[in-house]
Amino acid sequence: MASLITMDDLTNEEIIEVLDNAERLLPVARGETYLPLLEGKILGNLFFEPSTRTRMSFETAMKRLGGEVVNLGDVKTSSVVKGETLFDMIQMVDGYTDIIAMRHPRQGAAQYASDSARVPILNGGDGAGHHPTQTMLDLFTIRQAHGTLEGLNVALVGDLRFGRTVHSLSHALVRFGCTLTFVSPESLSMPDEIISDLKRHGADITETADLSSVIPSADVIYMTRIQKERFPDEDEYARVAGIFKLCAADLSPAKGGMIVMHPLPRVSEISPDVDNTKHARYFEQAFNGVVARMSLLCRLLNVEVPAIISSNGGEN
Ligand code: NCD
Repeated sequence: MASLITMDDLTNEEIIEVLDNAERLLPVARGETYLPLLEGKILGNLFFEPSTRTRMSFETAMKRLGGEVVNLGDVKTSSVVKGETLFDMIQMVDGYTDIIAMRHPRQGAAQYASDSARVPILNGGDGAGHHPTQTMLDLFTIRQAHGTLEGLNVALVGDLRFGRTVHSLSHALVRFGCTLTFVSPESLSMPDEIISDLKRHGADITETADLSSVIPSADVIYMTRIQKERFPDEDEYARVAGIFKLCAADLSPAKGGMIVMHPLPRVSEISPDVDNTKHARYFEQAFNGVVARMSLLCRLLNVEVPAIISSNGGEN
């Protein structure tokens, strides 16, 4: 059965279909209606790295649709500490569940799991590799704000080297004809192999280290956390920690409709005074994780989302 490991696993048409279904599911995500489309299905949450939003929104998505969730829980209290391999764990969880959401510190781990699993795998982040379910909620948020994904000016800011969210997102945005500006210090720039992939898809990319220069023309400013846990040494991290910080005052030259996004957690990249501006979109973005993941769960479990879902009376 199909898995979602990178954005290459979805065509543009399929992305739009997932987003359209996600939109229909908004009343279910808000708890205004109950639609047990996934009743009798079990999601296995296998998170080998810290997670708040991804794990909880997968769990919320499944439960709002009447499904059940089993969690690996804390890695320290699982058989991982006894030396159980990922291969063995997947063989077993595969038998307990209908679909698996996983996060792992090793790049390529989700692909590896999907190669040996009978159930679909949703990659919830593999090291500094990919994070396609985050990309789906990011695209949902962008389309909600701008009414389209096509031809937007998007600035991706911060840790483009280790940040898996921007690896997956940049790929999808290029496929929808967006113009990208990569804002990072040299040492955290987008990896060459990703730039080559983007160029193969006809990307229009500018690279800069100057955040203020991109604010006036951007439709989306996507801030990211410096991925401290992926740095080979503390000193290298210390040189770039706190390098970008967006404050409300910085946004005065921005277009009225420009949105500020962040996959969260933020550390110091976005000052709290941005939260009350019309540009802030990161908390809605996190909420959108529920509908995006509901829609993906339905798709990978081959469950059709009804065309019309009323906000108070269930399925029409
Ligand atoms: C991101 C991740 O895990 O890659 N978080 C998330 O899923 N919302 C971003 C991050 O940790 O910085």
